[in-house]
Amino acid sequence: MLTKTKIYLSSPHMGGSEQKFVNEAFDTNWIAPLGPNVDGFEKDIQHYLGNNVQVAVLSSGTASIHLALQILGVSAGDEVLCQSFTFSASANPIIYQGATPVFIDSESETWNMSPELLEIAIKDRIEKYKKPKAIIAVHLYGMPYKANEINAIAKKYEIPVIEDSAEALGSTYNNLPCGTLSDMGILSFNGNKIITTSGGGALVTHNLEFKNKAVFLATQARDNQPHYEHSSIGFNYRMSNVLAGIGRGQMEVLDERVRARRKNHDFYKTNLSTYNSISFLEEPQGFYSNRWLSCIKTSSFELREQIRLHLLEEDIESRPLWKPMHMQPIFKDCLHFTDGTAEALFNKGLCLPSGSNLNQDDLDRILDIILKTPNL
Ligand SMILES: Cc1ncc(COP(=O)(O)O)c(C=O)c1O
Repeated sequence: MLTKTKIYLSSPHMGGSEQKFVNEAFDTNWIAPLGPNVDGFEKDIQHYLGNNVQVAVLSSGTASIHLALQILGVSAGDEVLCQSFTFSASANPIIYQGATPVFIDSESETWNMSPELLEIAIKDRIEKYKKPKAIIAVHLYGMPYKANEINAIAKKYEIPVIEDSAEALGSTYNNLPCGTLSDMGILSFNGNKIITTSGGGALVTHNLEFKNKAVFLATQARDNQPHYEHSSIGFNYRMSNVLAGIGRGQMEVLDERVRARRKNHDFYKTNLSTYNSISFLEEPQGFYSNRWLSCIKTSSFELREQIRLHLLEEDIESRPLWKPMHMQPIFKDCLHFTDGTAEALFNKGLCLPSGSNLNQDDLDRILDIILKTPNL
């Protein structure tokens, strides 16, 4: 019997030369952390992003956010404003620092942090408590947030912005690469991202001191002495030379990966946007999304579930849009400034299979099943 293969939401997609860089690490015995692939991968990312950035490659995107907070001096008792509509890793490092997240809802044009609610929250916290220590804004699913508006508010109140670009490598905002738009950006190379090192991340900054501090903290905070001397608490967060080799190979195909993901999105949009019950997130003028995941918003929770379960029966993975952080049990007591936007997206939205390795047969198979959903 012929069985159909499982289609994943977003699976790793090697380009070909990753193995060569990994072999080089083995051949030269650069298996220990650090080494030429780490330097090479950082240079490749710096070159790709341009905009005069410095890059430190680290063990994960989560570690990168943690170090960004550490470098900005966020500590116990501080408040950090964080986009609610995101993956929990955007917010967890706030708790690692002993600080408190305050969640901000999204606006409907990009599904990212609402500048209006951000300013309301800042005014409220200054009036009732004290000034928040940082803002974490997220380019969700690859769509840039309204960076001009967010940055203007951040500047007005002198609060630094950490740009969570974990899902947005290859996206641009007014022709500037996501990850380079604020005080510090972070990237993720987790297995489901647009390129992967199996696990990994990076801190991106315009400030060489921040990069040096990140590398220092990520390598156990050793002072400059022949023996092991420590005047601060360090972390073991550096990317290994073997994994950076995978990253160097992946950088060679990043543009192709962006094209393939955008093509998936175009395919779904062309074939599904004729249905009133399904809508897509458009790119506003000047916003260019890598379309990391192709997302639809349906007319009801019931329809969203019908489509999801239908796909699941055929061994096709799809996933509801992120459940907002202010609705998560672990963050239920946190203050939030919300207007129902992210909650509605969570209830009615679905991420469709989006891998850059999907072929036309896969896409036709997915579409065929969606089109068979009753009452579409
Ligand atoms: C928006 C967002 N932020 C942060 C992360 C954390 O990245 P990592 O998995 O590399 O720790 C992810 C992905 O996993 C993410 O999607």
